[in-house]
Amino acid sequence: MGGDGIVHEYPDTTWADDGPTRGVEAVVESGHVLAFPHLAFGLEHGEERFLDPRWADGKAKNVSLRWPAGELRGAAGAPADLVALQGMIARYADRSEAFALRLFPHYRGKLRRGNSSFRPTGIAGRARSWRQDDTRLHIDAFPSNPMQGTRLLRVFCNVNPRGEPRRWRVGESFEAHAARYLGSIAPPWPGSAWLLAALGITKRRRTGYDHLMLQLHDRAKADLEFQRSSPQQRVDFAPGTTWVCFSDQVLHAAMGGQHMMEQTFYLDAGDLADPSSAPLAVLERLTGQPLLA
Ligand code: SIN
Ligand code: FE
Repeated sequence: MGGDGIVHEYPDTTWADDGPTRGVEAVVESGHVLAFPHLAFGLEHGEERFLDPRWADGKAKNVSLRWPAGELRGAAGAPADLVALQGMIARYADRSEAFALRLFPHYRGKLRRGNSSFRPTGIAGRARSWRQDDTRLHIDAFPSNPMQGTRLLRVFCNVNPRGEPRRWRVGESFEAHAARYLGSIAPPWPGSAWLLAALGITKRRRTGYDHLMLQLHDRAKADLEFQRSSPQQRVDFAPGTTWVCFSDQVLHAAMGGQHMMEQTFYLDAGDLADPSSAPLAVLERLTGQPLLA
C-alpha cells in the first residue's frame, strides 16, 4: 500500500462483529487512515452491472442515498434497476455502520448516519472548478453545510472490477495545516453568518469554526506551491480495500480511480474518546477563542 506514517493497515476480512480489530478510536482520532486491504464489499449476483457511469444521472457527482428514508438520488435507469441499485448501496450503509461501531465502540449510540454514496464516475475530469477539485489536498468542509464542530467520519471501499486502485495523496497533520494558514485568515464580515443563513445559502449558521474550516479548505486548494511541496505521501487503495478516516481532519486528495462506495457518519466532537483531538479543539487552542459562538 506504500502508506507508512499516516495509514495503518489491519488484517480484517469481515464486516461483522467477530472481526479482530476493535477499540481503535485513538488511532482514527489522531488523524490516521485505517486501511483494510482484505475487506471487500461483496457484490451480489447481477450487481456488477452497476459498475458503469451510465447509472449516474449526469447532474450529481455521485449516486447517493439520503437517510432516514434511504431515497436514491442522482441515479438514472428503469424502476426495477433503481430498486436493486438502492439495495446495493443500502447494504453498504448497513455493513459500514456495523463495522464502524465495532472499530469504535465508544461511538455507539452517538454516530449518526449521513449520506451513502456510490461513485461510478472516474476521478479524471470530474471537477468543475478549483474549489471542487478533489485532486487537490484538502480537508472536507462545505459552504452550504456548516458542521458547527460535528465530525465527519467516512468509510470508503474500492469496488473497481478491473484491478484499478483508488489513488490518494494524504498530507500533513491537521494542527500543522491549521498553523500554516491561520495567521492569514481574515475574520468573516460582521453579520455575514446571519445573512448567509437568512438567504438560505447555509443550512444553519456558519460559525467561526465553519469559517476557519472553509478557509482552510479553500486556501489549501488555491495554493499550488502547497499542493506541490507540502509533506505528503501517495497511497493506493487496491480493489477490495476498505479505509476509514475523519475526512475533516486528514488532508486528502483523490488522484485517480473509478467505482467506490462511501458512507458518511456524523459525530459530535464531545462524543469523541478524546475531544481535545477534534479540529474544533485544535483551532480553539491555536486561536485562543471559542469558535462556536
Ligand atoms: C474526497 O473526499 O475528496 C474524494 C474521495 C474520493 O473520491 O476518493
Ligand atoms: Fe474530500
